Amino acid sequence: MSGPNTDYDPVEVTPLKAEEVEAARDAAIGAISAAADLEQLKQVRIEHAGDRSPLALANREIGALPPQARKEAGQRIGQARGAVNQALAARLAVLEVEHEDRMLVEETVDVTRPVDRTPRGSRHPLTLQSELIADLFVAMGWEIAEGPVVEAEWLNFDALNLGPDHPARTMQDTFWVEPAEHHVVLRTQTSPVQARTMLTRTPPIYVVCPGRVFRTDEYDATHSPMFHQVEGLVVDRGISMAHLKGTLDHFAGQLFGEGIDTRFRPSYFPFTEPSAEVDVRCFVCRGVDADQCRTCRGEGWIEWGGCGVVNPRVLVACGVDPEEFSGFAFGMGIDRSFMFRHQLGDLRPLFEGDVRFSAAFGTEI
Ligand code: DAH
Repeated sequence: MSGPNTDYDPVEVTPLKAEEVEAARDAAIGAISAAADLEQLKQVRIEHAGDRSPLALANREIGALPPQARKEAGQRIGQARGAVNQALAARLAVLEVEHEDRMLVEETVDVTRPVDRTPRGSRHPLTLQSELIADLFVAMGWEIAEGPVVEAEWLNFDALNLGPDHPARTMQDTFWVEPAEHHVVLRTQTSPVQARTMLTRTPPIYVVCPGRVFRTDEYDATHSPMFHQVEGLVVDRGISMAHLKGTLDHFAGQLFGEGIDTRFRPSYFPFTEPSAEVDVRCFVCRGVDADQCRTCRGEGWIEWGGCGVVNPRVLVACGVDPEEFSGFAFGMGIDRSFMFRHQLGDLRPLFEGDVRFSAAFGTEI
């Protein structure tokens, strides 16, 4: 006769024996309290409460027991696992607090430590000024043109209609590169980039060229043998003085402030016809009560540069048909623009490399 197996023989299901369960529970609790930090506790959790821990494995054996034995075994395992989970939670809370406390100490910033005394460099104010100007034109779709500072005499003078007897060619103004018969100069203006551009590109041309120029000037508060100019050149169909004026008004407004415009005074440059000196409206007094203004010295206007309609003779020298195309050009001193933009009375700090000057002005974006 056979009937249900009422005898629960724990020997057959060893992991469920009371001593085994207790041993597993005690081992787990011992390991939990020995875990010194959160990382160790994580390992202990895997070993003693994970899917492959002794208690989890024992739990799976319950199903193998006769029904009447399952309840007791289930309770035993359940209690043991409950105790382990409680111990884990309690230890976790303790270790978390310890961890927080340790982080607060380890990550403390000592505000009394001495500062880093190695000064950080900054970009040169004139580099920034040049880039700012270039950006204004790039924003209008113009391109940046470049040329060498050691330039052919022909490009610096002849191509620009500065004849051989022009006063600017005398030894007083120009640095000649020896030997003289090579006809090489340090460029006295950025205007040769006009000639280079027309010789290498076909119109329409819209370019600006910021760069260094050289003249045999004495070094003083307002002169330097090396300084910076920005040249602008447009060659296209139907270009007139009106386009020039509109462009320079926009340029002035962007550089010196909204509403700052320009005025033209008749002048002469060999490479433009007609030519004009361009003044920018004083951005300090804006022409109102100018008598009191130290920036423009009562003028209401500040001299800014030269400009004009490109002389057809220059177009011809550079291979552009003046019957089809016309253009305008302008040239401004970048150092001068910087000086009055920042109301600087002396340009020498711009060239003397004192980092305190660059640090003050060279961080402008
Ligand atoms: N190159 C001239 C100078 O150095 C400035 C200048 C005047 C440039 C008129 C121009 C211009 O392009 O059209 O004094």
